[in-house]
Amino acid sequence: MNKISIIGAGMTGSTSAHWLAERDLADLVLVDVVEGMPQGKALDMLEAMPIIGSDIEIVGSNDYSATKGSDIIIITAGLARKPGMSRDDLLTANAEIVGKAATETFKYSPDAIYIVLTNPLDTMAYLTMKVNKLPRERVIGQAGVLDSARMCAFLAMETGISVENIHCYVLGGHGDEMVPLTRHSNIAGIPLCDYISADKLEAIVNRTRKGGGEIVDLLKTGSAFYAPAAAVAQMAEAILKDRHLILPCSAYMQGEYGLRDIFFGTPVKLGRKGMEQIIEYPLDADEKVLFDKSVAAVQETHEALKKLVKI
Ligand code: APR
Repeated sequence: MNKISIIGAGMTGSTSAHWLAERDLADLVLVDVVEGMPQGKALDMLEAMPIIGSDIEIVGSNDYSATKGSDIIIITAGLARKPGMSRDDLLTANAEIVGKAATETFKYSPDAIYIVLTNPLDTMAYLTMKVNKLPRERVIGQAGVLDSARMCAFLAMETGISVENIHCYVLGGHGDEMVPLTRHSNIAGIPLCDYISADKLEAIVNRTRKGGGEIVDLLKTGSAFYAPAAAVAQMAEAILKDRHLILPCSAYMQGEYGLRDIFFGTPVKLGRKGMEQIIEYPLDADEKVLFDKSVAAVQETHEALKKLVKI
């Protein structure tokens, strides 16, 4: 049986375990600093397995040794946004938490593939790769699956067409500067611009960019977790089943799109080795302007991290 460990058993971590358990993919371990909480959530979820019909094991712990031999480590530990905060506002607190989660898990699972969710996402993925000196294939940030799913959901609401017919791709950092690739997105093969008016499409793009903030403003005490966690489960399945599935994720650039030494959102191919290939989309002049803005925002956060942590 494969093994997935989730660091941070809060809203995103425990909901990730829930979606993963439904997929019957792997034994699951939940780790958190709060005593009793990961154990309680794991036991509660385990008691649901006879109903789901799954024989996976689910355990909770406050000790990283429980993660030993994991195939995938999912990092969701850290603070979530509150209204008025940007993802970048979380940098200082979350860099310390994620740095520790990355190095502690690496001691017990030196061959694991990391999926990072903690924000600021691209920079936390960068930190995870650097502190453990991992090859880039083994660290992937979750952002694009969520951002494109949000765009699909809004388009389905607008058009009344099944989400299964709607294919959206996004590029860029996981922030309000992300670049929804409207030219390459389609409904049953028909370009979006042939389906809905330019102003409706622009409104959907703007709502997608601010999708995380919309949820934060509604919840008031935390950030989105159902959709981010569902995105993680899809990524983990693509890896463990060696599907070679193309999904938008945050990946480490080594010359792709002319970028180097930065985690940046792009469609990538996921399989058993992790991030197997970065898919490069040709950008037109308008997209390039948005792209450059998004690169600058992510670079700024990477630079801020380098002032905090020696990597
Ligand atoms: N080690 C392990 N767990 C930790 C640590 C640590 N050093 N520090 C904090 N945690 C745990 C908290 O105890 C909490 O249970 O991380 C969990 C975070 O859960 P929530 O507060 O519910 O936040 P959540 O909504 O899950 O978001 C977590 O994921 O999507 C991102 O932006 C989001 O950065 C945020 C992260």
